[in-house]
Amino acid sequence: MRINARTRAKFRGAVVGALGARTKKPLSRETPKSIQQIFHPHSRGGPMAAYPQYQMFHELSKLPAERVFRFVKMDQIKAEVLKQPGVAKLVAKNPELAKELEQAVKAAVRERGIKGGKFWIKAPKNYIDKIVRSGKGKPNAMNDKTGEIIASIFGKAIKPRTILDIGTFSGGTVNAVVNKLPMEQRQLLNVVLVDVAGKTVREHAIPALVALGVPRQNIKLIPASFYSAAVSLGEMKRPLHESKQKLFLNQFKQLVGNVDAITAGAATINFATDLKPYLRSIKSLLKKDGVFVNWDWGSAESMRPTVRSAALKKVPIGFSPEGRMVSHYDAYVSFMNFWLTNAFGYPETVINKFIKDVNVSRKFNSFKWLEENTAWAENERRKIGKRKVAGPLAFRNRAYRTPSAMYRAAVAQGFETERPVFPLAKPGALDTGNVNWMIIMKKK
Ligand SMILES: C[S@@+](CC[C@H](N)C(=O)[O-])C[C@H]1O[C@@H](n2cnc3c(N)ncnc32)[C@H](O)[C@@H]1O
Repeated sequence: MRINARTRAKFRGAVVGALGARTKKPLSRETPKSIQQIFHPHSRGGPMAAYPQYQMFHELSKLPAERVFRFVKMDQIKAEVLKQPGVAKLVAKNPELAKELEQAVKAAVRERGIKGGKFWIKAPKNYIDKIVRSGKGKPNAMNDKTGEIIASIFGKAIKPRTILDIGTFSGGTVNAVVNKLPMEQRQLLNVVLVDVAGKTVREHAIPALVALGVPRQNIKLIPASFYSAAVSLGEMKRPLHESKQKLFLNQFKQLVGNVDAITAGAATINFATDLKPYLRSIKSLLKKDGVFVNWDWGSAESMRPTVRSAALKKVPIGFSPEGRMVSHYDAYVSFMNFWLTNAFGYPETVINKFIKDVNVSRKFNSFKWLEENTAWAENERRKIGKRKVAGPLAFRNRAYRTPSAMYRAAVAQGFETERPVFPLAKPGALDTGNVNWMIIMKKK
């Protein structure tokens, strides 16, 4: 029996529903328990009852789309999805649909990954200030670097120019960029700010830009996910959970081919599980020779669930500006050190055990380690009188990527790009400079 388009659409919708991505409600509430268990095992307990695993474990669908099925098993998901009444009923009526299950699950996992939680909308401004402090000022220094690059690309000529900033929040990146430009250029600048966290942009980033000399009427806020640009420009279908949401389609269309530089700094690819529509939209918006300057955090934990320290030590994740190798090991232990120390308040004893265990294990799985060591680590925390951090600061749940994954995606989309760099790298040390990469892409 042939499957008609309506039945197929219903089936796909039911599978998206089974994966909790059909509505805006939180994934942990919207997804049946047996399926939620696969993607984010501790999330049903909530931030306090399941502390700290709720915060420490990634929601696996939010890992880079090209890596998700290294962390979750397709067969397990398919088996659970088939048990859901909505899906089961459709398959009973149209057994042929079973052949399309795998494809439907892949599409639904992608929708689940794209679904933005309220996480950023709710995060207070001081959240970013805390990260800056915990990262010993590195995020600001990366933002300053971004500014230096844009200023040097713009050169001496002063003319009307448009900068679009993805993931503005309180303005750390875009303000640093504008700050590096001469006053005459600031006065001729159009600035477009795209962020789901519209309130924080309005209250902090915009007044700061005005204070720096950008005319208020030249600043435009698009309070949406950058995926709206992809929907607007025909690079992807509108996700089901956004069916009732304003997408600002015309605002994005008007910008096509008009943007001189796009910036994105610090966790702005959190929701960008699928880089293809994201980068294709960036390319459409840029003028010819326009640039995208992106910096972010990333280590091997986004590549596969288990790592081998010997291999991590041999392979570069990138290079410092002077050409010193930053190994995957440098990035891995630096990132975990950042989380364990700053986000969870664990003392040196915990970091030392973590590093020892990474080194002596043939195969090391950080999730397993966390599960096995949490009770002890929590005790170590209590001993030094540190409090629990159950807020967004401790939420490790992102689509962090390695710079090479970003580089490959940029090349695949036809950008002219050089290898990413780690501008603040400190190979051999436990330092977030070993996790913060930067890449410059040019539209040819
Ligand atoms: C850590 S903040 C970075 C803020 C700023 N760039 C800085 O360095 O201070 C990350 C921001 O990215 C935003 N964001 C993440 N994914 C996004 C997406 N797909 N589209 C738009 N904004 C996004 C979040 O809402 C958040 O405000």
